[in-house]
Amino acid sequence: MTAVELAGITKRFPGVVANHDIHLSVRKGTVHALVGENGAGKSTLMKILYGMQKPDEGTIAVDGEQVGFSSPADAIARGIGMVHQHFMLADNLTVLENVVLGSEKLYGIGAKARRKIKELSERYGLGVKPDLLVEELGVAARQRVEILKVLYRGATTLILDEPTAVLVPQEVDALFDNLRELKAEGLSVIFISHKLGEVLSVADEITVIRRGTTVGTAVPAETTPRQLAEMMVGSELPTPETAESTVTDRPVITVDKLRLEAVGGKALLDDISFTIHAGEVLGIAGVEGNGQTELVDALIGLKHADSGTITLAEEEITAWPTRRRREQGIGYIPRTGTATASSWRHPSGRTASSATSPRSPSPRASGWTRRRPRRTPAASSRPTTSAPPASTSPPPPSPAATSRS
Ligand SMILES: Nc1ncnc2c1ncn2[C@@H]1O[C@H](COP(=O)(O)OP(=O)(O)OP(=O)(O)O)[C@@H](O)[C@H]1O
Ligand SMILES: [Mg+2]
Repeated sequence: MTAVELAGITKRFPGVVANHDIHLSVRKGTVHALVGENGAGKSTLMKILYGMQKPDEGTIAVDGEQVGFSSPADAIARGIGMVHQHFMLADNLTVLENVVLGSEKLYGIGAKARRKIKELSERYGLGVKPDLLVEELGVAARQRVEILKVLYRGATTLILDEPTAVLVPQEVDALFDNLRELKAEGLSVIFISHKLGEVLSVADEITVIRRGTTVGTAVPAETTPRQLAEMMVGSELPTPETAESTVTDRPVITVDKLRLEAVGGKALLDDISFTIHAGEVLGIAGVEGNGQTELVDALIGLKHADSGTITLAEEEITAWPTRRRREQGIGYIPRTGTATASSWRHPSGRTASSATSPRSPSPRASGWTRRRPRRTPAASSRPTTSAPPASTSPPPPSPAATSRS
């Protein structure tokens, strides 16, 4: 039985074809993974299925019946629920209040609602406690509240957009157990990810999209991570050259006991030390929200360290502005599709990568300015802005997490 069938979906934005002739067929009681590179069009497709955007072409069928959604309310009425890439809970409300908000008609706001929440929590092993304040919850617990929230509204197909990006490995395992519970009860899950190992471990079927269009489907038992990656990028992957190390012993950037504090004195970075040598690739691993963004900001001069030093070749640059650092050869390629990338905006309204090309020395010099992130209630509850309570001072990248080429 097919839960959801998308056919020939096309969606254009000014200057971009985000989706082009996409086909996706999700069977009932399965986890269906949707994979593709950054910007491939995954979120757009899911927003279409969730009624947030209208497709220019194509059809949507739910339980074999063609539907047209003009809003998420329409999608919810047909059993489609979505947990977004960035959570949308109100921090200052309790779990129960967050869950019932906007759906008071279903089970009221009192004892009946509380009973329903407890029942769903138990049935799917979500461990959600109705009376806690959301701000007291860690990232994984918030995510379970979001999942419960869509189940409460009667969702039978759940869309999870990059749910594992914010989780540590044990939390990913727990989430996957929850997903298995959901499908055991006959629900369907559309799981978006570009972590291929995870996709192969949790999905029953996989649809790959590349540059906005479907390039194929796969089943995990017959697919290797490498094959999947090649479908995603559309070419054979190069075999990493392992012959000879290019690493020298000439230090290029030395970071020593770097500390960066948030307003109020909470450590965002604490005691970070490492050296990058000429000819070296240094990897930094960690779960989103543990200081990686702040470390990059400190290195390129968007934020200034509260203590510690950054040395470029022989010169200490800790207090240098971004422009001077760029002129001395520090380049920066932001991750795309996020606030970081889009926060470089040209006054003309163009966003873009030319701001970060090695040829333009400074965003400001070429007329690019940094846009302040908007503070909305939704933005303030994003996991990246509120680290899990357990980690008040983010762990520095451990030597084990760095790798040399
Ligand atoms: N509202 C919008 N207006 C204009 N362009 C958009 C809009 N939403 C998405 N796009 C563009 O459509 C393309 C697909 O974006 P989408 O967010 O769907 O990709 P994605 O696969 O979810 O990527 P990621 O892995 O980064 O989340 C991108 O080029 C993006 O910039
Ligand atoms: Mg996306």
